[in-house]
Order: sequence, then structure tokens, then C-alpha cells
Amino acid sequence: MSIIPKTPDQIESMRVACRLASEVLDALTPRIVPGISTNDIDRWAAEVMVTQGSKSATVGYQPPGYPPFPKSLCTSVNHVVCHGIPNDKALKKGDIVNVDVTVIKDGWYGDCSRMFVVGDASIAAKRLCSLTFEAMWTGIAQVKPSARLGDVGYAIQRFAEGKGFSVVREFCGHGIGQRFHEEPQVLHYGRPGTLDELVPGMIFTIEPMINLGRREVKELGNDGWTIVTKDHSLSAQWEHTVLVTPTGFDVLTMSDGCPAPPAFVPPFATWQRIAAQQTAHSPAAAVVA
Ligand code: MF3
Ligand code: CO
Ligand code: CO
Repeated sequence: MSIIPKTPDQIESMRVACRLASEVLDALTPRIVPGISTNDIDRWAAEVMVTQGSKSATVGYQPPGYPPFPKSLCTSVNHVVCHGIPNDKALKKGDIVNVDVTVIKDGWYGDCSRMFVVGDASIAAKRLCSLTFEAMWTGIAQVKPSARLGDVGYAIQRFAEGKGFSVVREFCGHGIGQRFHEEPQVLHYGRPGTLDELVPGMIFTIEPMINLGRREVKELGNDGWTIVTKDHSLSAQWEHTVLVTPTGFDVLTMSDGCPAPPAFVPPFATWQRIAAQQTAHSPAAAVVA
């Protein structure tokens, strides 16, 4: 089945949900310090969602074969790769934690995650976090009409492996809209020129999980959700929800507190302004000319 691009109205609804997801992370950022617990993060996020009039997409989320996810977001600490469940254990200086927020606003889903360094961390841990951020953006920068999903995966894999890291294969990005996980699957590894061709109006996440050690992962095994690295090495992840525009891409999960793209990404103001004009008065071609 082919991927159905979103209409301009649907894209505007996605912009709202995606910005709210990112703003939840903004609100959490100054509060992630040594001594707090991931349950604190979860509770604060739930409070922010109430003020936003949004809802958590993760609480009660239950794909086939899984127990319902119990919390308002995912918190994945150190060697936890993804889907970590918030708990009462205090974060300590030197921990790294991924906070993954998905909200629903008026039926539309916005999904993003960031890494947080608790206090300060080892050079290796900080490097993993920042290079995983660059790996995500390396993938985003491939997005344009007529590129293929294999180009995105290949660019991420090449970048990450070039730094001596490994790319998790078992979990991928995904289409998103009025459902949490839609077509297509967005692999973070692959071969250029393969898989689906990108078309304006497609919206999907790019969310590479990068390990300091080997790529293999396993289930922690006692909660039905938590995924850890097999070799216990540190793992990092960043996630944005991305729109294919007529000229390239727009990142929908942006907000005032969101880390700016790396310098190698085409000037932010340029692609965002062009994208905004396009959605304001499609047809896009007239604006670009
Ligand atoms: N937010 C995750 C993603 O990026 C999915 C989390 S599902 C949960 O796709 F149930 F674990 F919350
Ligand atoms: Co997510
Ligand atoms: Co996602």
C-alpha cells in the first residue's frame, strides 16, 4: 500500500500537535538535574499536557503483543535504548537520558525526543549524545521530493558508523498523523536509491538509536517494554517529526527551546520560511520561483 501524503489542512493540524510535543520537552529541560526521578519528569510532562489541552499518546498505548504502556512519556537512561518506563530512581550526575514525548492534539499526533545530560557526564557520553543529534540531522537533510527512504537510512548509518558507533536495527522511525505509527517504516540504516520515494506532504519521524558499543539489543525482560543494549554500552536517541516539502523538508517538532540544527544543515531560516509560505498558499511552485 502506498503512503498517502497529507493535505495542507492536515499539515497545519500536524504542526500544532508537533510544536506542542516539542514544547513539553522545552518545559522539562531546566528541571532535569541530579536528584530528580524519571517519575518526576513524567508527572511534570502530564501537567504541561493538561495546560496545553493535549493528551499523552503513550499512556495506555498497547500494540499487539505488548502490555499497555503505563506512563505519559518514555525515559531511557544510559544503556536503555528506548521505551524506558519512568520510575522513582533518582537520576545522578553523569547519567544521560532520552525523553520521548508524543502528544495528541485534536486527534493529531506529534512525536519527538531529546537527550539530556544530567549535571555533567563523561566525554564519551556527551560525544555520543551530540553525534547522535548530528546523525538525526544528517538523515533529515536528505529529505526532499524524489529522494528515497534508503538515502535517509544510508546517510545516518554512514555517519554513525564513521564515528565508530553502531546503529540499532530493531526499531525505526515511522509515518505519523491521526495514528501514532503509520506507514512508512523509516530505517536508520540502508542503501541509497532504495525503498519509497519521498513525495511532498509525507510526514514521518526520524529517530536514530545509536550505541557506543555493539548494535545488538535485548528486552530487559520484566516489563514488556524496556529495550537495553546487549553489551550494556551507552545508547542515545533523538527524534523529530519531519514533513517533505516541494523543495526539501520542514521539521514540525520545533519550538523556542529546541536545539538549533548543526551548521552543516542548510540555513534554518531559509527552509522554514519557504515551507511556511508553501503551506500558507499552496501551490508551492509559485513561491519557490
Ligand atoms: N515515542 C516512541 C516513538 O518514537 C514510541 C513509544 S511507544 C511507548 O515511536 F509505548 F513506549 F510509549
Ligand atoms: Co517518540
Ligand atoms: Co516515533
